Amino acid sequence: MSVYSQTIVVCVALMIAAVGFYLQTIVRLYEIAGFGRQIKQINTNNCNVEFPRKLQGCEDILVFNVDTNPSILLGCSHDINQRRKWFPPISHQNSTIPGVIRDHFYVYNIEERSVVKLKMKGFPKTSDLVLHGFDLVANGNEHLLYAVNHKRQGNGSVIEKFSLQENVLTYLTTFDGNDNRLVNTPNAITVVDHRTDSFYVTNDHYYNHEPAHDVESLLLRPWSHVAFHSKSDGFKIVEDGLTYANGIAKYENKLFVVQSSLGELSVYDVHQDNNLTFVKKISFDYILDNIRLTGGDAYIAGHLSLNAMGKYFKNPNVKSPSAVAKLSIQEIINGNPVPEYVFSDNTGLMNSSTVAVSHSNILFISGLMSRGMLRCEL
Ligand SMILES: *[C@@H]1O[C@H](CO)[C@@H](O)[C@H](O)[C@H]1NC(C)=O
Ligand SMILES: *[C@@H]1O[C@H](CO)[C@@H](O)[C@H](O)[C@H]1NC(C)=O
Ligand SMILES: *[C@@H]1O[C@H](CO)[C@@H](O)[C@H](O)[C@H]1NC(C)=O
Ligand SMILES: *[C@@H]1O[C@H](CO)[C@@H](O)[C@H](O)[C@H]1NC(C)=O
Repeated sequence: MSVYSQTIVVCVALMIAAVGFYLQTIVRLYEIAGFGRQIKQINTNNCNVEFPRKLQGCEDILVFNVDTNPSILLGCSHDINQRRKWFPPISHQNSTIPGVIRDHFYVYNIEERSVVKLKMKGFPKTSDLVLHGFDLVANGNEHLLYAVNHKRQGNGSVIEKFSLQENVLTYLTTFDGNDNRLVNTPNAITVVDHRTDSFYVTNDHYYNHEPAHDVESLLLRPWSHVAFHSKSDGFKIVEDGLTYANGIAKYENKLFVVQSSLGELSVYDVHQDNNLTFVKKISFDYILDNIRLTGGDAYIAGHLSLNAMGKYFKNPNVKSPSAVAKLSIQEIINGNPVPEYVFSDNTGLMNSSTVAVSHSNILFISGLMSRGMLRCEL
């Protein structure tokens, strides 16, 4: 072959490879978005919606006091109709709600099936509290709570720290990472050490304002990152180039980070200086949200239909299918696990689940716009 025809062959081959690559990516994104998906009912027979009037829009939940008095901490919306106007992560950015918005934390007692609203002490009266992801750690007879707050005042979204003792949350301090967009779109948190205020936080977008925020989502731009915070050094970016980083959880010296719209869970090694090294990723076939680790397993809740999710976030009176996958933590670290659905629903038992936890064979599922927490005996 002449050099000329060789060049043509190489060019054609590269073009075919490129088209193949993009086709593969498109097919994969189509699968994750759930177009044409057949949705099965899985483990939906023994489920009950707990406290549908109180536990509304609890985007994140976690299990604590496992050995003494198994309980669930929930961060819930004060009014999901207000959330339809103001919840900047899903592009609800009409800030005209009068007064302050005050979301609430609740504690649900797993054995008694009772719920209490936590009292709040010392929180600035002029500040909103618009809840998203959070994490809780024990410290003697108190717990420390780090929670994302998408408040309308000041520089933008921040992370609040509280002490939790006997159903009272006492406000301690605020971490503001808005400078240089280090943390301007916080989503979920995993605490490393409360004594040094060390935690990882996912920052799900680069732009926090419309319309750029939406364009960034639609074009799947990899402008999301994970930041690490410590009292001595403030915030630093420890992993960037992510597409919609969402749920995050630390386990020993590993960090798990979810990329929602790619349907991927990434695993990192955590070093002494809290920097990260990418180890591997695990692929799922739906839009992932939060990850929670309970009883040796990871539970990853998410959305089975991009189309239904979009409609539901605008109007919580339509239904949107939910799914939860379960993977063993050891398999995530050492093996090559295939995600197993532990819950799937297309009947509105839970709409667009954002989080799931488990305790002694009971699965608890909640969502950003849902009315009630779902309790399913497996
Ligand atoms: C925001 O909400 C107010 C009050 O409901 C409404 O009058 C206004 O048109 C809304 N703004 C936008 C941009 O949708
Ligand atoms: C906004 O950020 C600046 C710089 O980090 C800080 O000094 C200031 O206190 C913040 N403003 C508010 C209202 O939180
Ligand atoms: C950890 O990351 C910071 C930047 O975020 C960098 O300055 C530092 O050198 C890194 N440490 C190591 C051991 O690579
Ligand atoms: C899910 O949506 C359906 C349809 O709007 C509604 O009837 C149901 O109560 C919702 N479920 C929850 C848990 O919010």
